[in-house]
Amino acid sequence: MNALEAIGKRRSVRKYTGEPIPGKDLEKIVDAGRLAATGSNQQPWDFVVVTDRAMVARLKVAAEWMEKAAAIIAVVMDPSSRWWIEDGSAAVENMLIASTALGYGSCWLEGYTLPHEEEFKKLLDVPKEKRLLTLVPIGVPAEEPTREKRSLQEVLHWERY
Ligand SMILES: Cc1cc2nc3c(=O)[nH]c(=O)nc-3n(C[C@H](O)[C@H](O)[C@H](O)COP(=O)(O)O)c2cc1C
Repeated sequence: MNALEAIGKRRSVRKYTGEPIPGKDLEKIVDAGRLAATGSNQQPWDFVVVTDRAMVARLKVAAEWMEKAAAIIAVVMDPSSRWWIEDGSAAVENMLIASTALGYGSCWLEGYTLPHEEEFKKLLDVPKEKRLLTLVPIGVPAEEPTREKRSLQEVLHWERY
């Protein structure tokens, strides 16, 4: 699948079969995050890949449906970098697209994660001064969601708004 196909196919997947994913594929997904654009090339990120079922079970307080994810990637950012949110977001999107390209389903889980940030940082041994931007559950998809998108015609403006 090429990049444009993966971008077109990507949708948030919240149902997984529960099958495991090879570590090599999880490495490829994190590698895609690592290679994202980043302000001043600061690369203020670290990625914690959780596959341990006991830890997945503790993280699922953010969203019950994560229980069947094969892995959860915690995106840890250094907020002393000026563009940490933008950089982290670029990394997350790269990982979602890479997951799709490899045939997996994933979801950007930020709204449900932030209320548990301090609790999750402790669980995952994340240093105090770092921020947990989001969790990204990844699994073998058990659904193929289609979601309405605003049309290209509606959002594309040539030359002037
Ligand atoms: C910043 C951000 C935060 C999000 N947080 C959550 C979340 O907490 N829980 C969730 O189920 N989905 C979350 N999502 C996924 C969105 O709900 C989803 O991207 C949106 O509905 C569009 O659907 P699509 O991803 O299938 O295109 C988040 C997405 C973004 C970009």
